[in-house]
Amino acid sequence: TTEDPGELRTPIVAVLGHVDHGKTSLLDKIRGSAVIEGEAGAITQHIGATAVPLEVVSEVAGNLVDPTEFDLPGLLFIDTPGHHSFSTLRSRGGALADIAILVVDVNDGFQPQTEEAIRILKDTGTPFVVAANKIDTIPGWNPTADAPVKQTYEDQSDRVRSQLDEKLYELIGELSGAGFSSDLYWRVQNFQSNIGVIPVSAETGEGVPDLLTVLMGLAQRYMKSEMEVDIDGPGAGTVLEVVEERGFGTTLDVILYDGTIEQGDQIVVGGTNDPIVTEVRALLKPRELSEIRTEKRFDDVPEMQAAAGLKIAAPDLDDAMAGAPVRVVGDKDVADVVADVEAELAEFAVETADEGVVVKADTLGSLEALANAMAEAEIPVMAAEVGDIAPRDVSMATTADEDKHRTILGFNVDVLDDAADKAEEEEVRLFDSDVIYQLVEDYEEFVEARER
Ligand code: GTP
Ligand code: MG
Repeated sequence: TTEDPGELRTPIVAVLGHVDHGKTSLLDKIRGSAVIEGEAGAITQHIGATAVPLEVVSEVAGNLVDPTEFDLPGLLFIDTPGHHSFSTLRSRGGALADIAILVVDVNDGFQPQTEEAIRILKDTGTPFVVAANKIDTIPGWNPTADAPVKQTYEDQSDRVRSQLDEKLYELIGELSGAGFSSDLYWRVQNFQSNIGVIPVSAETGEGVPDLLTVLMGLAQRYMKSEMEVDIDGPGAGTVLEVVEERGFGTTLDVILYDGTIEQGDQIVVGGTNDPIVTEVRALLKPRELSEIRTEKRFDDVPEMQAAAGLKIAAPDLDDAMAGAPVRVVGDKDVADVVADVEAELAEFAVETADEGVVVKADTLGSLEALANAMAEAEIPVMAAEVGDIAPRDVSMATTADEDKHRTILGFNVDVLDDAADKAEEEEVRLFDSDVIYQLVEDYEEFVEARER
């Protein structure tokens, strides 16, 4: 660790929420506001993430953030599509994100993926704020583009404001039902015991200054010590996705949360079998939009420092798993790093029984979350793996003694064609969903119905 405040790493902010509630629009708005402020070049697009430096946070937040009061370098936002599980975002047994924004459409309130996100935030103890989005859709809303919401809230007619209040109180009630006390952010004194709710519009930009101010303040106040890492040390990250890329073969989209990674570095990556030991051939960043005319979609960079989102091209990545750790070996003994990765993977190990159902999930983190939900529901699991549902999973399911266990539960995965055919032939049932608790409930309902 280091005492130099210039060495603080960027806090990682995950943007979560139900499908269509406005996560991507909110990030686009933050980027767009920066363009208006003439700071476009300062925002850098990463793989799966957007880095917003402190000066830009400050510009967009108007007079709400005084850059001299902060020494964190800015914020790194990770967009998580609604269909993609936030549980992927893990690091060393904890949450990959330092803070989260839970985006909720004020009209829709809590939806299945909102609840799922809340459970994971609770399990991982991740601090978060709630962005109550789409306030511009309140009938009669009088917008002031990009204004702090505390001000435009006051500018509304009594009728409009009371309509918004009603929706906000409903949301605060839902949060309370989930075990979190919350209030409008300007009434929150202690953000550690109370969740701040920030009314926003990703359409008009209202509330975006407030959101950035609250995030920056939270990070500075409560997370600074966690940001004091050795960012020049060997890199550590988490695989977001394993992606086939033309010209590069199998690549990894990674969030680097610690240290530095360089081209040519020896790395260890968690795989379906033994950890993979390989060498970084290229570190890739998306090209700036203005340069996208050219054939090349990526820029080669010699090194990257945490926090960052990047694509790693290297040989032998076919067996890499989404959600798995990535470690730079550096000066350490490669065997020690392999042992570290194995130990971290062991944390995800799902306890399996001789008799039970087969479960599949898209990432290690989501597999673990699904396995926990199964254990809670007392449904035995015979096999649990990351990946799409394949014919050999069907073969596995046929080995169950009890008919109700001749079942495969898939979370966020595809069913390969030949697996679907084989399942039909072998009378193996397939359940799939992109909501864990839905999957468990569907299976429980099926068991209940057949026992009636
Ligand atoms: P997924 O990635 O699919 O989970 O969705 P998302 O949460 O990223 O939602 P997205 O940003 O794609 O927005 C969904 C729709 O809502 C789009 O049509 C947006 O234009 C619209 N939308 C998002 N935010 C606002 C808002 O503040 N006001 C209004 N009126 N529309 C919004
Ligand atoms: Mg999106």
